[in-house]
Amino acid sequence: MPLMPRLIMGVLVLAALNLPAVAQYPSKPITVIVPFAAGGPTDVVTRLVCEHMSRTLGQPIIVENVGGAGGTLGMTRAAQAQPSGYTIAVGNMGTQSAAPALYPNLKYDPAKSFAQVGIVNFTPQAIVAKKDTAAGSLKEFIHFLKTNHSKLSYGHAGVGSISHVAGLVFNAKFSLEPTLVPYRGTGPAIQDLVGGQLDYMIDQSLNVIPQIKAGTIKVYAIAAPERLASLPDVPTTVEGGSDFIFSAWNAMVAPKGTPTDIVTKLADALSKALDDPVVQARYVELGSSVPKGADRGPTGLQKLVESEIAHITPIIKAAGVIAN
Ligand code: MLT
Repeated sequence: MPLMPRLIMGVLVLAALNLPAVAQYPSKPITVIVPFAAGGPTDVVTRLVCEHMSRTLGQPIIVENVGGAGGTLGMTRAAQAQPSGYTIAVGNMGTQSAAPALYPNLKYDPAKSFAQVGIVNFTPQAIVAKKDTAAGSLKEFIHFLKTNHSKLSYGHAGVGSISHVAGLVFNAKFSLEPTLVPYRGTGPAIQDLVGGQLDYMIDQSLNVIPQIKAGTIKVYAIAAPERLASLPDVPTTVEGGSDFIFSAWNAMVAPKGTPTDIVTKLADALSKALDDPVVQARYVELGSSVPKGADRGPTGLQKLVESEIAHITPIIKAAGVIAN
C-alpha cells in the first residue's frame, strides 16, 4: 500500500483508539498543579472550585503544590505534562502574563504552550503592613515608606508572581527600594508579616482578609475603584488619594494538545462551579469576583492572557527588572 494511505490509516486508527478515552474522561483522578505554596490565594481558590468540579466530573482532583521561581517552575511542569487531561494547572496573572518579560529563558509561552480552560477568579490587591505600623492612612503610610524604605522589607511570592509585580509597580511609582524578600507563595509570606518579620506586602485580597478581620495585620487600602463587600470599612486607593489600581486573576489551563472535548468538559465543569451559589458566596467573603459569562472558557482566557502580556510587558521593561 502506498505511503500516504498508510499514514492516513494510522491517524484514523489512533483517533479511533483515542475516542473511548475522551468519551470516558475522566476515568481516574486528575492532578491540578498549583505553582505556589499551600494555603496561599491560588491554592485556596483552586481547592474551592476543584472540590465542586470533582463532583461534576465524578473523579477526585488532587492538588499538587509545585512552588518556586515565581510560579514558573510549576507552570513549566504543566506545559510539559502529557496532554491527556489528567494533569492540569492553575496559574495566575504573574505566571501567565508577567513571567515572559522577567524570564528571558522561560520554558513556556502563556499564550501558546497551553490549552486555556478558563478564568477562575478576579481579586484586587490589598496594601497591607505589619500590625504595629504607626501610619493611620494610605497617605501617611506612603510618606512613612518614602522616608524609611531602605530600612524596610517587602514580602512576595517570587520574581514574576502577582505580589512581586504589584510591588514592582507600586514601589517604582513612589521611588521605594525596600529589601525584597521572596517566598514560595504569599501563604508563608503573610505568616511572616503577622509575625513582624516583614514590613509590608501587596497581596491578593482573598489571602489577607482573614488576617485583616483577625486584626493581626494592618490594611491601608484595596487597589480597586470600589470597596469590597467583605471589607466595607477599608477604603480604596482612589479614596486614599492614589491612582494605584491592581486587579489580579487566577486561571485554569491544560497542556497544549489536550483533546478539545476534554478541555470543553473541564471548562464546563469550571463554569458550573462558578455558578454555584455556595462558591459564589465564598467568593464574596474572599473579596473575589466570578468572571462574567462571555469572559469564561478558553476564548475569554486566551484574550485575557494576550491583552495582559501586552499591558504588563512594557511596564516591567521600563522598571528594568530581569530574573537571574
Ligand atoms: C500565591 O498563591 O502564593 C500567590 O498567587 C502568589 C502571587 O502570585 O503573588
